[in-house]
Amino acid sequence: MKDPIMNFDLKSLDLAQAASHKGDALLVLVPEGFKPGQDELGRLIAAALKSGDLQTKTGKLLMGYLASGVTSPRLVLAGCDEGTPRQVRQAVAAAVGALRSSPCRKLVLCLSALAHDDAVRMAVQAAADASYVYTTTKSKPEPRTLEQVTIGVADAALSRPGFERAVAAVRGVEYAKEWANRPGNHATPTMLADAARRLAKAPHLQCTVMGPKQVAKLGMGAFLAVAQGSHEELRFIELRYNGGAKGEAPTVLIGKGISFDSGGISIKPAAEMDEMKFDMCGAASVLGVFRALAELKPAINVVGLIASCENLPDGKAVKPGDVVTSMNGQTIEILNTDAEGRLVLCDALTYAERLKPKAVVDIATLTGACVIALGGVRSGMFSSHDDLAAALLAAGESAQDLCWRMPLDDEYGEGLKTHFADVANVGGRPGGAITAAKFLQRFADKFPWAHLDIAGTAWKGGAAKGATGRPVPLLLDFLLAGAGGGAATSVAKKAPARARRKA
Ligand code: BES
Ligand code: MN
Ligand code: ZN
Repeated sequence: MKDPIMNFDLKSLDLAQAASHKGDALLVLVPEGFKPGQDELGRLIAAALKSGDLQTKTGKLLMGYLASGVTSPRLVLAGCDEGTPRQVRQAVAAAVGALRSSPCRKLVLCLSALAHDDAVRMAVQAAADASYVYTTTKSKPEPRTLEQVTIGVADAALSRPGFERAVAAVRGVEYAKEWANRPGNHATPTMLADAARRLAKAPHLQCTVMGPKQVAKLGMGAFLAVAQGSHEELRFIELRYNGGAKGEAPTVLIGKGISFDSGGISIKPAAEMDEMKFDMCGAASVLGVFRALAELKPAINVVGLIASCENLPDGKAVKPGDVVTSMNGQTIEILNTDAEGRLVLCDALTYAERLKPKAVVDIATLTGACVIALGGVRSGMFSSHDDLAAALLAAGESAQDLCWRMPLDDEYGEGLKTHFADVANVGGRPGGAITAAKFLQRFADKFPWAHLDIAGTAWKGGAAKGATGRPVPLLLDFLLAGAGGGAATSVAKKAPARARRKA
């Protein structure tokens, strides 16, 4: 992948210093109760607030050109209410979005009026998101215009650890977006495995890849059944990041990597079927997390497992009614070949047992029902373990990459009963996201387990069609929160800024 992301740097700049910093545009976030100084830009902002041309409501912008006292030709003033992380993100997204049509390459982003420590990471993430462009399969790509963002804060030394983490998260998010956005013929299981191998050239990383023969030897009958309708070979990818103590139990991330999901013999309707190239977004998020870990080098151990294949109809494809045997010996009646995600994941979950994990989190674009339940705002989160669920919820909040805990009452599993196997791969339509999770839970009783259904959050359809890179930010926060103080770059997020400076 060519270098797809812009450069960020962090400087101590007050408003007057930001005004004299040279860029193509200066963006100033203006919260409620903003106290401008007596410098030229301060007086300009005070006047604009007084006249009502500038409002501190989030999303409101005032744009100017060649403003006196401002070195950069373009000036954008953006309201952000109280400057909460969410408001900062929305304000920066609106402002950088407005600059997209201008030839702005270097942006100076002044956050010095914001006390909140999370402002930096939100600004970094939002600036990257709003300026991202996909180019890989265009013959005449128009790359992103924005190349360089200088973030100005009150105290750069204090904000540095959070800043570095945010930049690494952006790298992970953009790596996930890149692989998720690639069309099915440009992101085959083999290509995903090659990407993982290239990632593993970084220190502390290792990668092993298995093909159909080895997967058959392991007895992954459910995974093999999904892959058997395609001419593309399946890949089972194992990525390891060893930054922690030797022998310390790893956290395992499992990504659903269906590089294209046609539904198989239970074929999907034609409308929007192209979007099923995104059915490997779980796998892409695992790659993205490892991309960020390579940069941050925290003192933790993480294993990423990716089960990748295509789901296609064919003379050799698995048929409704077929019964297959999973790696842990449970037999599965495949009543609907379109419920393939749980079939590849169940064997990956069984495989995870041998890693003696601290916790296992699977990430999957698993069900259309989850899109109906939660839309595109929150990912569905299922867990049999309350502490793990709480940690994921908290990570989602702090990264502003939200999830919502869903139930796992045993009654939801009733519909999976069948006369012909230990379990069927579908229940009825009601509660479809939950029955899918109940299916997975049968293979996850040996370790603390959680499942993230990202079917609604991993990509956007319509005019803004494209991958979001979610839930890379959530997963990174989750992993780094467990890193304790040992990690070089792990930040004590919850501690107030002043306490942290002393520490
Ligand atoms: N990859 C799909 C889930 C999906 C569908 C995600 C639409 C995003 C948008 C999954 O493999 C699938 O097809 N699930 C079926 C399950 C059903 C057959 C029980 C679904 O959701 O319809
Ligand atoms: Mn499917
Ligand atoms: Zn699928």
